[in-house]
Amino acid sequence: MRRLVVISNRVPIPDASGKAAAGGLAVALHEAFQAYQGLWFGWSGKVSANPAAQPKIIDKGQVQYAVMDLTSLDRQEYYNGFANRALWPIMHYRIGLSEFSRADYAGYLRVNRSFASALAHLIQPDDLVWVHDYHLIPLASELRAAGITNPIGYFHHIPWPAPEVFGALPGSTELLRVIPDYDLVGVQTERDADNLRRSLVQELGAVRRRADLVDAGSRCVRIKSNPIGIDVSGFQQAAQRSGSSRLLKQTIAGLGTRKLIIGVDRLDYSKGIPERMEAFERFLVSHPEHRGQVTYLQIAPTSRSEVPEYATLSRAVNETLGRINGSLGEPGWVPIHYVTSTYSRAVLAGLYRLARVGLVTPIRDGMNLVAKEFVAAQEPQDPGVLILSKFAGAAEELTDALIVNPNDKVEVAEAIQLALHMSREERVARWQAMLKVLWASDVSRWAAAFIKDLAGNRTSRTRSEMVLAKKENDDRYSL
Ligand code: F6P
Repeated sequence: MRRLVVISNRVPIPDASGKAAAGGLAVALHEAFQAYQGLWFGWSGKVSANPAAQPKIIDKGQVQYAVMDLTSLDRQEYYNGFANRALWPIMHYRIGLSEFSRADYAGYLRVNRSFASALAHLIQPDDLVWVHDYHLIPLASELRAAGITNPIGYFHHIPWPAPEVFGALPGSTELLRVIPDYDLVGVQTERDADNLRRSLVQELGAVRRRADLVDAGSRCVRIKSNPIGIDVSGFQQAAQRSGSSRLLKQTIAGLGTRKLIIGVDRLDYSKGIPERMEAFERFLVSHPEHRGQVTYLQIAPTSRSEVPEYATLSRAVNETLGRINGSLGEPGWVPIHYVTSTYSRAVLAGLYRLARVGLVTPIRDGMNLVAKEFVAAQEPQDPGVLILSKFAGAAEELTDALIVNPNDKVEVAEAIQLALHMSREERVARWQAMLKVLWASDVSRWAAAFIKDLAGNRTSRTRSEMVLAKKENDDRYSL
């Protein structure tokens, strides 16, 4: 059986009882690992003073996990620093928040190099190699330097910004130069694919050979949009079974006859949480008849708390929340309930099903799986309404949501009003259309499509081979 080697910053190792981790990527790859033997490589999540040069190997049935510790300097420079202070904001179009430091960039490259040199020993000639996310962009280049010629794919889970934005990052040209070391790059939307292809053409002088194929001189890379989905039936079942959860029963009792509006996001500035709270405030001011009749529950697990911009955000959210609850709340009614705990998939599924409105209004988001999970969790006869930011990747697919500009508080406030008054007939029609889309991009199809493309890839040919191939193909493809 052929092997699939997956590399990601965090590695979802099943717990001691063998129960699979519930992370999106683990769910997505579950079926792929039935068809392929698996090796999953990445950071252990731990810091140690003298990390071993070789990974710790953990065997769990069909999948072998290989994890490496980092030094605290590695963690600071690679994870907190370059990945999350410089790249993350740039990828989310926040040039002003991007803090570049040469030391962090060197740390990012150093960790990628040390991952590649440990991983190279584990790769067998027939393996398919699949790298995930922005922490590991230079990994293919380092693996190529270590002599690996296997097909290597990369999936970029977050947005890829326009060339003018990406170009603002010092080191961006160098990062673009390593992209063609992949055979296949997957992104969430057509817009992301177009942005990356344009960056390669404008910054490196690469040439578009056909719609998705870019020739960067020595190598060609295929850049394709392949939106990630969710486990639709798994999520539907979780929502149907959730009624017995204690937390859900408490929430139902606490709500009484009030309608629930829900938001669920990592506490990240890309998610637009303070902006959303202010839009809700605007809604209550413009439509005072709803005061005491609705509750907005915002679940926002704390994230990347060592990164200063996240600490600043946390303070801003608390201030906004306190101001709104203080000025609009009444004895017996708190407009916004805010919790930073993490909840299980089962509890979230139940809360989504209970909610009349799902508020998914990121300022920028690669995909946003909460939007898809909210839709999957709904009761078919009486579904809630999804309000979705036009800047979430999911908006390219879920066109039957109420699509809003998250920067426009009045627009979001009026969408809330519309959602709360929408007829059951319209809610059902919109929900059915969105569910159809979810089934068409179910997560098992996402992984299978990427792996099929990677396994069948022919882009790792040299440029001279490409020139010959181009002659044959010129009649069929426009450049
Ligand atoms: O969205 C990008 C991503 O890396 C996801 O893959 C991951 O679930 C999330 O961010 C969490 O980030 P972190 O590992 O920094 O907590």
